[in-house]
Amino acid sequence: MNATTATPGAAALAAPVRTAGGALLLDGKAVGARVRAEVAERARDFRARYGRAPGLAVVQVGEDPASSVYVRNKRKSSQEAGIESFAYDLPADTGEAQILSLVHALNTDPRVDGILVQLPLPKGVDANRVMDAVDPAKDVDGFHPVNTGLLAQKRPRLRPCTPFGVIRLAQEYGIALPGLRATVVGASNIVGRPMALELLLARATVTVCHTGTRDLRAEVERADLVVAAVGKENFVPGEWIRPGAAVFDVGINRSASGKLVGDVDFDRAAERAAWITPVPGGLGPMTIAMLLSNAVDAAVLRAGGTL
Ligand code: GUN
Repeated sequence: MNATTATPGAAALAAPVRTAGGALLLDGKAVGARVRAEVAERARDFRARYGRAPGLAVVQVGEDPASSVYVRNKRKSSQEAGIESFAYDLPADTGEAQILSLVHALNTDPRVDGILVQLPLPKGVDANRVMDAVDPAKDVDGFHPVNTGLLAQKRPRLRPCTPFGVIRLAQEYGIALPGLRATVVGASNIVGRPMALELLLARATVTVCHTGTRDLRAEVERADLVVAAVGKENFVPGEWIRPGAAVFDVGINRSASGKLVGDVDFDRAAERAAWITPVPGGLGPMTIAMLLSNAVDAAVLRAGGTL
């Protein structure tokens, strides 16, 4: 692959940054800011047309420290984009029935276009039951089986934020996905599985690796594009990366020295890859940007508009 063939869209970004290793940095902070500016303009248009801002409800149960950081960010970014934020912070001992009754109330609240219930939920709460209760038309996470099914059937509606962020970032840097060999490391419902569906939709040839995979190294070594979504520091050694590959690192791990690091050994991988996402500053900001984009999409669709 050739790292210099960027789309006109990418030309408007700040000058591309090359890592010490030689790979081009996929700047999720810069692209995320661009997406958020688009969202703000669409939120303004929505308000002018319908007399109210798009609304996003973010529900947190308990006080998981990492979740609190994400939730604060989501609420702040939505307000900055002109989306009305509805905050629900429930104590850790809230029962499943109470969470379900809040979700049902939000489903019928006309001011609320998007509902996000932050995961993980406390022990004893069936997260599937809660997520399944969210109206698919308000499912800005894209986790509801209806939205997953639509994506699987090549007719995406509300799309899971991190995988959608990978696709948008690749587009912005002119990484042509059709025909690429893509390897997804990790098969979670939040990232790995929907990532595979997004890459398939983009006409890549997709392999998904999981705990049953026999030769992970071989699967990564032949990939033109790698998405790592495992949640373990240095899970993907840099020498596994194919020269010229694009590397998207979804992991956010706290290293022993207190630094935030991804799942890929960044320094070694950047000596071989043509493109690589940093951690932090890669898919974290893209995930939030795509959430806001989904919230406006949901508002427009609910109001009878088209995307
Ligand atoms: N917890 C970690 N990532 C996510 C996410 O994307 N959405 C929700 N709802 N919870 C999460």
